[in-house]
Amino acid sequence: MTIPLSRPPVDDEIKQAVLAAIDARQYILGPQCRALEAELARDTGTMHATLTSSATAAIWMTLRALGVRPGDEVLVPSHTAFPTVEAVCFAGATPVFVDADDWYTMDPKDAAAKVTQRTVGLVPVHLYGQPADLPALQDLAQRFGLWLVEDCAQAQGAAWDGRRVGSFGRAAVYSFYPSKNLPAMGDGGCVLTGDDELAARCRRLRDHGRLSKDVHAEVGFNLRFNELQAAALRVLLGRLHAMNDHRRALAARYARALAGLPLALPAEREHARHVWHLYVVATPRRAELAAFLRERGIQTGIHYPVPTHRQPAVAHLDPPSLPRTERLVEEILTLPMSAHHTEAEIDQVAGAVRDFFGR
Ligand SMILES: Cc1ncc(COP(=O)(O)O)c(C=O)c1O
Repeated sequence: MTIPLSRPPVDDEIKQAVLAAIDARQYILGPQCRALEAELARDTGTMHATLTSSATAAIWMTLRALGVRPGDEVLVPSHTAFPTVEAVCFAGATPVFVDADDWYTMDPKDAAAKVTQRTVGLVPVHLYGQPADLPALQDLAQRFGLWLVEDCAQAQGAAWDGRRVGSFGRAAVYSFYPSKNLPAMGDGGCVLTGDDELAARCRRLRDHGRLSKDVHAEVGFNLRFNELQAAALRVLLGRLHAMNDHRRALAARYARALAGLPLALPAEREHARHVWHLYVVATPRRAELAAFLRERGIQTGIHYPVPTHRQPAVAHLDPPSLPRTERLVEEILTLPMSAHHTEAEIDQVAGAVRDFFGR
């Protein structure tokens, strides 16, 4: 039996919720979406949640709503999924790439060194489910008068000093891509903010810039969300923290089983509640280890092999080298992890990794 990298949840409660939404015959931005928005805002500790079609759309909407203009610079970690950077570009701003710290997240010192007269904001990413250094980044934002937008696509339910990520900046985004900690059965995303005006502008942008049915205040787009996904997500939001607890237990199990091997293991930083979206180890023997595990029916991944500042799509920006990021992408390897993997599966993966190093 193959052990997949991630396994999305499917069960009768979710199916029943989706069937009920089908029967309600109101498919776009209806009562399920409104209820989910209220529940997401409450769970995150913010005032407003605006559902949209993806986290990429959510970042774009947020930056547009913040008024970014061509020539504005936005600090982004290079070590992230390309959509973080893409949405900044799509909003018309210029991404300025920041190197990684010891925890694979945006290095506040390098971020400070990259601030110029044109910098307007920063988009730290809570990568793999681990919060970025929020106090240092908030301090940086305050010092230079920048806005901070958290990319929580991989970190729903994570926290810093007991406070949920998503509530530390002007706004934050979630992704509901099926492998995420709060997964939909398709694409989805959300903007979270305590700023009434920003929320109102995001709601307008996701629906053709509409002020009312027939009046369009600005050019937006169709980035609306739907009732079937919202119904499924409401069931799963009720389980989010239990699902994250299971991920945390599996991560602890990996850590015990893999201790002592010549393999860099991920750890939880002080102050943080890590929610283990991904379990990423590092070894110079990555390709050999991945091939060995594949032979045993165990899927692995690399998140991400090409740093975003080295993507052809941004080559015209001629980004400077980021030594840490360029080094770390050579060795990282993602092992199977989700809220629906079993302890036995984790033991099987860890056993295979031990066998590899014991050969
Ligand atoms: C850190 C990060 N930001 C943004 C995104 C984009 O999310 P979506 O696929 O919902 O647009 C992803 C998804 O891969 C992500 O991992």
